[in-house]
Amino acid sequence: MKLSYPEGATPLDADECAGLLPKHITTQAELNQWEQMNILNGMRWAKRQKKQDILTIKFLCDLHKKMFSETWKWAGAFRSSNKNIGVPWEQIRSSFFNLLEDVKIQIQYRSYAEDEIAVRFHHRLVSIHPFCNGNGRHSRIMADLLAERLGQPVFSWGTHSLVESGTMRSAYLSALRRADTGEYTDLLQFSRHGMSSPHTLYQSN
Ligand SMILES: Nc1ncnc2c1ncn2[C@@H]1O[C@H](COP(=O)(O)OP(=O)(O)O)[C@@H](O)[C@H]1O
Ligand SMILES: [Mg+2]
Repeated sequence: MKLSYPEGATPLDADECAGLLPKHITTQAELNQWEQMNILNGMRWAKRQKKQDILTIKFLCDLHKKMFSETWKWAGAFRSSNKNIGVPWEQIRSSFFNLLEDVKIQIQYRSYAEDEIAVRFHHRLVSIHPFCNGNGRHSRIMADLLAERLGQPVFSWGTHSLVESGTMRSAYLSALRRADTGEYTDLLQFSRHGMSSPHTLYQSN
């Protein structure tokens, strides 16, 4: 199967592609649909984990596994090669450790408003880019779960398809790039209200 990648996606190498479990899948559209079904099951699992601490490396990996275990053999396992985005692969575990400790401190000392803690968490998580694929979807769900634990509603990004190219994905990626420079306003705006400037709503894909 030839995979097509929207802007800002992480291409898979040949070994990773060989980890595709459903052998009947031959097109990108079929893969997207299959992944979506798998992810919904993962989200249902996450909703049931009310008593579990979500700010642990185990939970992060378990969630990825539940979201992709019917699709990719390497679901829930850290990548072991470098990508065009993310920390060098051997630093994933320590980066995670630091991120989780920082978030716990931010919550304890209320360093930022609840939404901002969750949005910063999303951005740092996807910047570490721990898995071969699915990092965007996994880290948006993690941010939703954290927002809920902090008493906030889930973000609105789950209601838009950010997986395929389109105006929403472009707006999301440009907000992430601003967050890369330490400026979180656009990503905060996007997480709750979609586009940061209303006129972009009328642009075609
Ligand atoms: N400049 C960037 N800074 C931080 N995160 C980025 C940047 N560009 C892309 N991303 C994130 O990487 C994700 C793509 O990684 P990928 O592992 O393919 O996730 P998915 O398969 O869920 O789309 C995007 O959805 C986005 O969340
Ligand atoms: Mg991807």
